[in-house]
Amino acid sequence: MVDLADVVVASNRGPLAFRRDEAGALEPAPPGGGLAGSLRDLLEGSGATWVSCALSEADRAAQDAGLLSLPDLRLRTVAPDETTYDLAYDLVSNATLWFCHHHLFDLTRRPRFDQRWPEAWAAYRRLNRLIADEVAASAPGDGVVLVQDYHLALAPRLVRQARPDLRVVHFSHTPFADPGVLRVLPADCRRELLAGMAGGTCGFHTRRWAQAFEACCRDQGLDPPRTFASPLAPDPEKLLARVRSAACQEAGERLLARTGERALVVRTDRVELSKNVIRGFWAIDLLLELRPELRDRFVHLAFVYPSRQRLPEYLAYRAELEQTAAAVNERWARGDWQPIVVDVRDDPDRSLAALRLADVVLVNPVRDGLNLVAKEAPLVSERQASLVLSAEAGAAEELAEAAFVVNPFDVLQTATALADALTLSPAERQRRAERLRALVLAHPPRAWLDAQLAAAEG
Ligand code: F6P
Repeated sequence: MVDLADVVVASNRGPLAFRRDEAGALEPAPPGGGLAGSLRDLLEGSGATWVSCALSEADRAAQDAGLLSLPDLRLRTVAPDETTYDLAYDLVSNATLWFCHHHLFDLTRRPRFDQRWPEAWAAYRRLNRLIADEVAASAPGDGVVLVQDYHLALAPRLVRQARPDLRVVHFSHTPFADPGVLRVLPADCRRELLAGMAGGTCGFHTRRWAQAFEACCRDQGLDPPRTFASPLAPDPEKLLARVRSAACQEAGERLLARTGERALVVRTDRVELSKNVIRGFWAIDLLLELRPELRDRFVHLAFVYPSRQRLPEYLAYRAELEQTAAAVNERWARGDWQPIVVDVRDDPDRSLAALRLADVVLVNPVRDGLNLVAKEAPLVSERQASLVLSAEAGAAEELAEAAFVVNPFDVLQTATALADALTLSPAERQRRAERLRALVLAHPPRAWLDAQLAAAEG
């Protein structure tokens, strides 16, 4: 098996991020999303090298001040100029590739390939080249390179061209677009993208996304490279240590003081179009209409946190989800009870506390590579929480048998599943919760890393 000291990981976000406090001093920012946090848990102390982008002015200043370091992990960052980064991250990665892979775009508006596109694609290429060059410069002879996600789809081929001795894997954390949808991209870009990924062995969270990628390759007349499927998983011990922290426990007490004896239906997501928060609120609305006996019996906590706020779609989505929650509350609130508590704030301790105390967890994305929340919730639950889970989340492949699986577009089915989950008998609730836990534990986080290492070895 490969020694982790010979491994170089490359991703857009790195394991450490910084921001400035009110006085302008550097302070650590909360980790951004599942991928960076999970990889950090797996790699800390391993001697591996991690190449990522210094995303902000604070990150670059932290690097200059020597703050960018973790025990036994060699951190390397590249610092693209602001225009390059903004075009590559906002316009190509998030407003175009993310929309394609999640089948999200609005055919009347986005994507739009206009005079800015050639410049944006060139910036995406430059960013991938910067990362590939840094990887090529820091990888040991015959080392293994694990490139992560859609921001770096071109990097595998560039790495292989620079260092043919390296064994390269590309792992996608998103779904992969169906061939008809990938055709939305300009022909030369989609071919470059597929050929870029095919510079390595390509990994996905599920076979379904791997097959979509292979179908896209064939659709473009390319031979698909070797692919594999292996789902990411949370680290149970590290997760429970966070749950036991004073900050998380206090957040839990504050929550209970606010919600009292009522049952908790919890969601914790980025403010993200694919997470389908608004249909979740419509399902709560319908549930209250159809099942009057459940009124005043539960609170829906929607702890969502800001994401990609430079994209107008995300700002509009945030406003619309707040308006939808307000309308549902106006319709049903009585006395001191309001059915939906929506709070847009990046507070990981509070999110974890809410999952710990949840009676039902709602995970209903329209399409999702995996969804780590669905796998974290069963591990931290202290109330044998039930899981209402979208069939379109990669995690459904592992958890379907013990979750309430729903079509995320079907609001009536989601409302019914929420009602069923809220009224389960204690024995059935316990049976499902135990099964969920066992299913999550069956595929430990190290297995995900090992699958990439094995794929690299061929
Ligand atoms: O591919 C999914 C992902 O990279 C997750 O790991 C993470 O939750 C999210 O996207 C982060 O998005 P961003 O880096 O744009 O905040």
